[in-house]
Amino acid sequence: MKQTILILHLLILTILIQPIQSTLSHTSLLEQICRQSPHYHLCTMTLRSSINHRSKQDIVGFGRLALRIVNANASITLDHIKKGYIKTTCPMEKEALKDCLASYNMIVNVHLHEALNALNKRDYKIVKQRAYVAGIQAETCDNKFKNSTRKPLRDTNRYVQNLCAIIMSIVNKLISTNQPTSSY
Ligand SMILES: *[C@@H]1O[C@H](CO)[C@@H](O)[C@H](O)[C@H]1NC(C)=O
Ligand SMILES: *[C@@H]1O[C@H](CO)[C@@H](O)[C@H](O)[C@H]1NC(C)=O
Repeated sequence: MKQTILILHLLILTILIQPIQSTLSHTSLLEQICRQSPHYHLCTMTLRSSINHRSKQDIVGFGRLALRIVNANASITLDHIKKGYIKTTCPMEKEALKDCLASYNMIVNVHLHEALNALNKRDYKIVKQRAYVAGIQAETCDNKFKNSTRKPLRDTNRYVQNLCAIIMSIVNKLISTNQPTSSY
């Protein structure tokens, strides 16, 4: 009788411990990725939402999640720029928004789109290139407002640049673990 109770206790303990363990290993991979990435806080904030998104919690999964999150932000931003471009009566702002429209069109419809495709094909070097160029495009947009007192896209441009840098650092981990050792 005593033994049965002991076994039962052990069983319950095992059931209780398992989810704790998987949460722990998830947290530690997230920590490891973000400690090696620029913008630690943005990185942890972004990747922590993997719990809500139920995305796969490995390095590729975290990379995909970051790409989807920045893509969602950039897609809605693209719509906002279109509306702002139509609405504004200031010629200088109209000019800047026109250039940003082109930049964000490329970010959403070319670079991030292709980065996600490349991630699915495990072509990590392409993912890195696309994330790099997407970041540059956001910077280009931001520079259009250099002379302007109103900088409506400043936070978003910084956000896109920083998340692209985080994505590049995540992908770097994939590139270095997938490199055949004979190549150097
Ligand atoms: C900002 O002003 C400088 C000097 O007037 C000018 O050369 C430059 O082209 C302007 N930049 C933009 C993005 O309008
Ligand atoms: C994108 O992110 C920036 C920075 O957090 C935020 O200011 C902006 O409102 C976001 N845009 C959208 C459309 O969610």
